[in-house]
Amino acid sequence: MIVLVLGNGAREHALIWKLSQSPSVTELFAAPGNAGTAIHATNLPLVDILNPSQVVQAARQCRADVVFVGSEAPLEAGVVDALQAAGISAIGPDQHRAQLESSKVFSKEFMVRNRLPTAEAREFTDYQAFEGYVTQLFERARTPSQAHAPSGEFKLVIKKSGLAQGKGVLEASSADEALSFGKSILASDALLVEEYLTGFEISVFVLSDGKDWVVLPPTADFKKAGEGDTGPNTGGMGAICPVPLVTPPLWQKVLSEVVEPTMSALTRDNLNFCGILFIGLMMTAQGPKILEFNTRFGDPETQALLPLIESDFGELVQALAQGRLAGHAWKVSDHKSLGIVIAAPGYPASYPKNLPVAALPSLPPATHVFHATTTRLNDQLVTQGGRCFTAVATAPTWEAAYDKARGAARGVQFPGAWIRTDIGEKFFI
Ligand code: AMP
Ligand code: GLY
Repeated sequence: MIVLVLGNGAREHALIWKLSQSPSVTELFAAPGNAGTAIHATNLPLVDILNPSQVVQAARQCRADVVFVGSEAPLEAGVVDALQAAGISAIGPDQHRAQLESSKVFSKEFMVRNRLPTAEAREFTDYQAFEGYVTQLFERARTPSQAHAPSGEFKLVIKKSGLAQGKGVLEASSADEALSFGKSILASDALLVEEYLTGFEISVFVLSDGKDWVVLPPTADFKKAGEGDTGPNTGGMGAICPVPLVTPPLWQKVLSEVVEPTMSALTRDNLNFCGILFIGLMMTAQGPKILEFNTRFGDPETQALLPLIESDFGELVQALAQGRLAGHAWKVSDHKSLGIVIAAPGYPASYPKNLPVAALPSLPPATHVFHATTTRLNDQLVTQGGRCFTAVATAPTWEAAYDKARGAARGVQFPGAWIRTDIGEKFFI
């Protein structure tokens, strides 16, 4: 099988690395790829992956049997529709089904219509109506009769409907900040005002061939830039797999209350697709509630997850693409996996590019350094993005995985490189 992977992040490097170990994968291509994917695959750096006809042309040129779409933007751009029209298998939904991620309004309507557990929400397209609603909710929270929701603690979540690269959600503690964030969204998009949920978050990945599906072990990512989950949101500064707080009975609850009803609802509404459904969950005291759907693997969760898959990942991808997931045997290690992102100085605000990477660590067994948007300029490895690498280690214990991952992360040297030193600790210490 020849596979073309679309993307240039550490998630795509991890996918390519995993596929490169499969005897059933004969050739690998990455578009545009990065300096890490180039180790195992042929990069196609000039392909614009947001341009469906360029992707079809690239897939034809490399005679790809399957195109694996790594990130959400090409899905929204209709790359899978074009591949399907050209008779080329794709892992990922068409544009209509990709709305489960690319439109939070579409996705919330799907959840509500199918009575899936999720935060209460209201949709707005008009500023005046939004202003009236938000002002009223904050005022009500301030009145003494709402003693359970003292003013300092009351929050609302404001969400841009369309894709926003992690910048479309605000947990607002005051009407003023909710209104100014909402106003900027409403200039070009719809928004949701959502009930603020508390608990711990997990990411669940369901692989589906469009009819049958399998669930991968629970993962969690660490979205905040600062230690102890403080500071601004990022794309994710690290991840673990599995999640120690998710005990077998709790996992059963996730499967029966969220995953199974969601997959049935997708079938009912004719929204199921060949690819990955990523369910972002808040584990609340009232049970698991859906925060969002994505229609691709998570970054950095995938970097932590894939090293634990013991069965042939290429065969799994082939089974997905050929619609024969039912009965496909696959196995996951019971080891612990932990990934730490190495970021550029300034990230998640503005950051410099083209920082020369002076050194990469030599790696102990079961340890990896996945590249994100790196490239080579005159033979010098340089960074290009905000999140530059993910160091991942698997081991029988969390402590060993953590020590190895941190050692590897510290060994990635470029000017101003930084990491969060507490990835996973809240779960296992
Ligand atoms: P989303 O893109 O919808 O997953 O939101 C991004 C992040 O915002 C989530 O991972 C949560 O940390 C936070 N978030 C989203 N919705 C809520 C909610 N209803 N209550 C609390 N936090 C939320
Ligand atoms: N780590 C969250 C995401 O990939 O959206």
